[in-house]
Amino acid sequence: MKQIPDNYRIVLTADQIQARIREMGAEISRDLGGEAPVVVAVLKGAYVFLADLVRAMSVPVEIDFAQISSYGDETASTGRIKVMKDISTPVAGRHVLVVEDIVDTGRTLHYYLNELQQRNPASLRLAALINKPERQEFTPEVDYLGFTIPSGFLVGYGLDHAGRWRDLPGIYEVIDA
Ligand code: IMP
Ligand code: MG
Repeated sequence: MKQIPDNYRIVLTADQIQARIREMGAEISRDLGGEAPVVVAVLKGAYVFLADLVRAMSVPVEIDFAQISSYGDETASTGRIKVMKDISTPVAGRHVLVVEDIVDTGRTLHYYLNELQQRNPASLRLAALINKPERQEFTPEVDYLGFTIPSGFLVGYGLDHAGRWRDLPGIYEVIDA
């Protein structure tokens, strides 16, 4: 196991995350009624959640990636939105499921969901592992939500602090980040 800093407090264990993702995968698959969606993960943070979520789904999927925002090395959102990488899959007439690690201010998704909607998908839904309502300025509708965590800066399970800790199987709050 990895050495975890003393000021990291566990908030979601790997088992809790996996149990919730199994439920979410079943619910999403039910709602899709057998149709194969395009699953769009927002890089980098959502890559771990994507990998587990699609394996918890019983429908076939296509996967694509977008990299939207440069959150920088800061623990507070800079407010700047940049599409660093767009998806290459045409989504007109397709069911699209956007997968995000955490909705913080909501700015990133507000921007990119609007962008995808303009491509006329058959449906556009959002799965987010964590909703952090504390600082929400834009409130994208989260169709499938893993957990609500009121506040704090989180690392692990895809979430980083200055590029590190994405590889932790659980989610931790950084105390005094
Ligand atoms: P938003 O546009 O403010 O909603 O920012 C969302 C993005 O910021 C997420 O996709 C994460 O990549 C990053 N982010 C927000 N809060 C945290 C956090 O607590 N830990 C790590 N990354 C975060
Ligand atoms: Mg992200």
